[in-house]
Amino acid sequence: MRNIKIFDTTLRDGEQSPGASMNVGEKLQVAKQLARLGVDIIEAGFAIASPGDFDAVKRIGSEVEGPVICSLARAREEDIKRAWEALKDAPKKRIHTFHSTSDIHLKYQFRVSREEALKRSVEMVKLAKSFVDDVEFSPMDATRTDTGYLCEVVEAVIEAGALTVNIPDTVGYSIPSEFGALIKTLHERVKNIGRAVIAVHCHNDLGLATSNSLSAVLNGAGQIECTINGIGERAGNSSMEEVVMALRTRHDIFDADTNIKTEEIMRSSRLVTKITGMYVQPNKAIVGANAFAHESGIHQDGLLKEKSTYEIIKPETVGLHKTKFVLGKHSGRHAFRTRLNELGYALTDEEINHAFERFKKLADQKKEIYDEDLEALVTDEFTSVPEIYSLVDMNISSGLNQQPTAFIKLRINDELIEKTEYGDGPVDAVFKAITSITGTSSTLQKYEVKAITGGTDALGEVVCSLEEDGRSVSGHGNDTDIIIASAKAYINALNKLAARKK
Ligand code: KIV
Ligand code: ZN
Repeated sequence: MRNIKIFDTTLRDGEQSPGASMNVGEKLQVAKQLARLGVDIIEAGFAIASPGDFDAVKRIGSEVEGPVICSLARAREEDIKRAWEALKDAPKKRIHTFHSTSDIHLKYQFRVSREEALKRSVEMVKLAKSFVDDVEFSPMDATRTDTGYLCEVVEAVIEAGALTVNIPDTVGYSIPSEFGALIKTLHERVKNIGRAVIAVHCHNDLGLATSNSLSAVLNGAGQIECTINGIGERAGNSSMEEVVMALRTRHDIFDADTNIKTEEIMRSSRLVTKITGMYVQPNKAIVGANAFAHESGIHQDGLLKEKSTYEIIKPETVGLHKTKFVLGKHSGRHAFRTRLNELGYALTDEEINHAFERFKKLADQKKEIYDEDLEALVTDEFTSVPEIYSLVDMNISSGLNQQPTAFIKLRINDELIEKTEYGDGPVDAVFKAITSITGTSSTLQKYEVKAITGGTDALGEVVCSLEEDGRSVSGHGNDTDIIIASAKAYINALNKLAARKK
C-alpha cells in the first residue's frame, strides 16, 4: 500500500482564513497537537510575513518533535533567507518556495515573462537548497497554467534540487477528472518526475478540494496539503479529516494510507475550532456534530441490529466517545491530572495548578464535569495571553420592563476602574462598560455562544472576534453564566489586541 504524506498547512494557509489569526502560543499548541496527530510536515508559517510568523516558525521548529517543520517563502532571496533564519534550529526542516506560473498571474500581477518566472524559480530553489536539502516548490495557480509550460517548470525545479513539487489549485477552479488527468500528464511528460514527490494543494471554492486531492492520489500524487476542519483562504483548503478518512475507509479504491492517528482527529478539530473561533457546520463530514448522529427510525433500527448497516466509520476511530461524566467537586488533583493525561494533555505543574483551581470553582457551580468541560478548561490554559485587562467584578440587571444595566470592575496595570453602562441587552451593556473602561476602539465582527455539554448548568462558551487597525483576533470565555463568559471573551480579545500592538 502507498504511504501518502500529510502536509498540514493549518498554521499558514489555515491562518489566512478571515478572523482565524493565532498568536505564537496558540500556534505552538496547535503544532503540538498536529505532532500527536501524526502529520508528516507542518507548514508553521510564512517567516517573512511578520515578526509573529517568524517567531512561530522558530519556536515550533525548536519545540515540536516529530514532523518536518516548514516555512513558506516567495521565490525571493530575502524570503528564503528569512525562512532559513527561522528554521535553522529545527532538527527536521523544509523550505517551501513558490512562484506563479499561469499567464493570468504573470501578465497582470507579476508582469514577468514565462522565461523569467522559470529562471527565478530555478534560482530560488537552488538558493533554498544551499541552506537545506528538503526543498519544496509550488507553481502557483498551476491548474490555470499552460500544461506544456507547467511540465517545463516542474522538470526544471526538480533538476535544481526540489524534492517535492506541489501542484496548487490556487483558486479552486479544477474538477476531479481534470485535476487527476493533470497529475497523470505530469507523470507521463516530466522525465525526472521520479526524483520528487508530487504534492497537491486544493482550494475549496467549488466544494471540490477533497475530491480533487483524492483524484490526484489515484493518479500518482504522494503528498496532500490540507488543514484541520478545512479552514484556509476564502472557501478553505482540503480538509485533513476528510482526505485521511477517505483513504482509510476505501483502501480497496486507493490502495494507500497515511501516518495519521485517526483517534486524534476530533481533539485536533476541537482545538482548532476553539483557538480560531471558527465553528464547523453540524453536517460537516467526519467532525461535524451530526456526522455520527442517526435520526431516521429505519437507520436506527438497522444500527441496533448491525452497526455496518448504516455506519461506515466507527465514531471511536476518529476519537469520538460517548460523553462521560468524569469528575465532581470531591475529585482531587491526582484524579484531575490522571484524566487529563488519559485525554492526551501533558500540562506543566504550573498549568495543572492553575487549571485545577478553575476546575474546583467550576465543580462548585456544576455537579458533573465532563471530558468536554475539562478540554475547555485546559485549552484556556494554552490560549491565555498576558492580562493587561482583568475582570475583577461584574453585576448585571435586566428584566422584561427594565433597561439592561452592567456594572464592571476591571484591573488595568494594578489600578481598579469601574463603570456602569446601559445597553440593548445585557451583553451589549457589558461590552459598552468594558469598552468605556479600556478606552479601546475595536469593532466587534463576530459574537457566538455555544453550550459545551448538555443541560442548563452547562458551560457556555463564547467566542468574539474584534478588529482594530486591520488586525483581527478571536477571544474566548467559558463560564456557566453566559454573560460572564461573554465578558471574559471580550476581555480576552482585547488582551490579544493589546499584546499584538506591543
Ligand atoms: O493556494 C496556493 O497556491 C498556495 C501556495 C502558496 C502553495 O497557498
Ligand atoms: Zn493555498
